[in-house]
Amino acid sequence: MLAPVAQDLERVDALIRRRLESDVALVRQVAEYIVTSGGKRLRPALLLLACGAAGYRGEARLQLAAVVEFIHTATLLHDDVVDESQLRRGHSTANAAFGNAAAVLVGDFLYSRAFQMMVEVDNMRVMQVLAEATNAIAGGEVLQLMGSHDPEVDEARYLEVIRRKTAKLFEAAARLGGVLGGAPRSLEDELADYGRHVGTAFQLIDDVLDYSGDATAIGKSLGDDLAEGKPTLPLIYALRAGTPQQAAVVRHAILEGGREDFGGVLDVIRACGALDYARQAAQREAQAAARALERLPPSEFKDCLLELASFSVARRS
Ligand code: IPE
Ligand code: IPE
Ligand code: MG
Ligand code: MG
Repeated sequence: MLAPVAQDLERVDALIRRRLESDVALVRQVAEYIVTSGGKRLRPALLLLACGAAGYRGEARLQLAAVVEFIHTATLLHDDVVDESQLRRGHSTANAAFGNAAAVLVGDFLYSRAFQMMVEVDNMRVMQVLAEATNAIAGGEVLQLMGSHDPEVDEARYLEVIRRKTAKLFEAAARLGGVLGGAPRSLEDELADYGRHVGTAFQLIDDVLDYSGDATAIGKSLGDDLAEGKPTLPLIYALRAGTPQQAAVVRHAILEGGREDFGGVLDVIRACGALDYARQAAQREAQAAARALERLPPSEFKDCLLELASFSVARRS
């Protein structure tokens, strides 16, 4: 699927490895652990494809592709501490393997390494876009935290959280293609809209897979969202559209958290069509992403961006 940027992605991976350097052994150990565990490298791919679509071939594309992956990886290190997750990319999470303190601090290291690298690009617009995105992610994670164990969180609030915590980095990655390419603001905004919609679809499906995915394929444990009482769209829909008995099961599970109710909640959200509802919402986001690219001239990069939008909904991993 990513053929037009396959070679670039290899170079980005080499750059990522090189820029994990530190004279502190534990930094290298934890950072290499998470980075070499795998990961789809979707955000770098999106940035490189957007650069291609905007006609940019300069070296800064590789640097910024590594930067968005570093920011993403830092959020994962922190997120797995907050979510008390045990499995990531098919391996023990860094917090499980090295402890919470090491995971948090190496997350900080990766954030700050990303800042060093973005400054090297020496482009104020680039720094604005990435600073805003990084700040939005942090705000989104805190907004989500405030809503945990709260059955009153509605669909609009949920969408606000996922736009910030996930879609914002996709948006920034896509926008940066336009910025580096010196594209007119209209094209830059279209790429950004595309990224925001793809990122929203991606998280909607992530929240479906947390109930119905295959743990080996996604490399994460199922039920993490329920365990922390996180009201994601499948639950929000079941509260709204389920029978009073079904809603009571979901309400109890959100309030209590934990994994005991997982089977019962899964039965409810299946029975009331909540997973399909969330998949359809993701489908609409992917369609909106494709529409955002309507004015973009045809190219292999554009084809690939369109495929990526479909993948964000169809994915099983
Ligand atoms: C995981 O993102 C975090 C979410 C936004 C759901 P990815 O599924 O892109 O994670 P990796 O990088 O492939 O492991
Ligand atoms: C992922 O959020 C982290 C960010 C987007 C910052 P989630 O907690 O929903 O994703 P997973 O399931 O752990 O990957
Ligand atoms: Mg998590
Ligand atoms: Mg989380």
